[in-house]
Amino acid sequence: RAADPGFPEPTIHTQQAHDPDSDFTSRWTRADARQLKAMSDPTAGPGQNSMPTDYTMPAVSHDFPDMSNGKVWAWDTWPLTDAQANQYSVNGWEVAFSLVADRSLGFDARHVYAKIGFFYRKAGIPADQRPANGGWTYGGLVFPDGVTGKIFPDQSYSHQTQWSGSARVYPGGKIKLFFTDVAFYRNPDGSDRKPYDPEIALSVGHIHADKKGVSFTGFNKVDPLLKADGKWYQNGDQNEFFNFRDPFTFEDPAHPGKTYMVFEGNSAVQRGGRDCTDDDLGYRPGDPRAENLKTVMDNGAMYQMANIGLAVADNQSLTRWHFLPPILSANCVTDQTERPQIYMKDGKYYLFTISHRSTFASGIDGPEGVYGFVGNGIRSDFQPVNRGSGLALGNPTNLNYPAGTPFAPDPNQTANEFQAYSHYVMPNGLVESFIDAIGGPNDLRRGGTLAPTVRLQIDGDTTKVDRSYGHDGLGGYADLPANRELMP
Ligand code: FRU
Repeated sequence: RAADPGFPEPTIHTQQAHDPDSDFTSRWTRADARQLKAMSDPTAGPGQNSMPTDYTMPAVSHDFPDMSNGKVWAWDTWPLTDAQANQYSVNGWEVAFSLVADRSLGFDARHVYAKIGFFYRKAGIPADQRPANGGWTYGGLVFPDGVTGKIFPDQSYSHQTQWSGSARVYPGGKIKLFFTDVAFYRNPDGSDRKPYDPEIALSVGHIHADKKGVSFTGFNKVDPLLKADGKWYQNGDQNEFFNFRDPFTFEDPAHPGKTYMVFEGNSAVQRGGRDCTDDDLGYRPGDPRAENLKTVMDNGAMYQMANIGLAVADNQSLTRWHFLPPILSANCVTDQTERPQIYMKDGKYYLFTISHRSTFASGIDGPEGVYGFVGNGIRSDFQPVNRGSGLALGNPTNLNYPAGTPFAPDPNQTANEFQAYSHYVMPNGLVESFIDAIGGPNDLRRGGTLAPTVRLQIDGDTTKVDRSYGHDGLGGYADLPANRELMP
């Protein structure tokens, strides 16, 4: 039930599983997402966190170390995984793939220069016996120059970048790197000459791990896999600001022999169309706190139309895929459900995804963080975790005060509102993320390196920060421990 009488009841979600091929799309509704504000303490003063401690990442120190020793900005990061999201070391080395950019760029300029880089370190050392920055060696870029630009039909791009994905490892050391290959077509003033072209893509390489460290070969060819179709997944003709990226592949024990992929998308509507419905609002009949659909859209909430997509592979080598309908929509709730992943525990399927405070729709507010949904299958009537809100792990945030931005924080915010983003939930509930910014207007420090790993206790439809993990809940910086070993 809603914690506060001023807020609506969350939508009833059954968690019931549907056939992955069917067109059932679960909704993260406004009634659900308004539970975020319902949990916020209206009396929290300047600089204080207003959100429940159980769903808040402990505050990260302003003098955090840098995992790359000054070599690169690093942000979205993922490990080497198998079809069940187990995390591997290879010949005794742990590997992390990160989006990286040159430190001479401003951190906010990074997106159009992103390239996939990698780090490695010895496996099997407890976090508290490693150097404070995690003890990684930066290994360089994964792709030789020019390789990822070749797939674009229009070669007149101004910027060509590699965005997030995931990496599957196979017994002989073969790596399938799924990522988002992106071309921008910009004018010198930064405006779009034509919409950008993000494509979900695959490149196959090999890992070499010996006494000296880790290197890769291959990765000199890219197969484009999926392009937003405009039917289930919004494309550039419908909205030049559409989101389509961040593939994560897995197998579902309930459907053996198939490989699935989840990814970030938007509902396939024309930008600004009045396409939200009463089901997207999700109020229970007679709820006195229900909103009126017309008012919600008069306030512009229909500009925020995120979804999470599903695709299935058509061949064993995972080079051919087709779309299935989205598994989750957040119409009139938020515009970005990024880096989605499926996490399985105790027979339940958790869908985790990251979202920003700034991408919520008019009338919805919640912290920067990772959000979770639980159901009985990969396509379910997903129940948002934690009091029906969806919030799994947010940054310390005060919803009574404006957000500001990572480069210009609001003076009344906590110093940690932007401390972490792009969370990825690893085996055993461990969560890694990167530091965006820490500090207030007078001592702001940008991150570009990984935050301390934290641990979530995941149990049914609740998750909680484990404050007994590490130091008061904060583990090692940049800690991505393997739970499996591969000796090719
Ligand atoms: C999340 C994200 C991803 C994208 C990348 C681009 O931090 O927006 O969705 O792949 O950053 O930098």
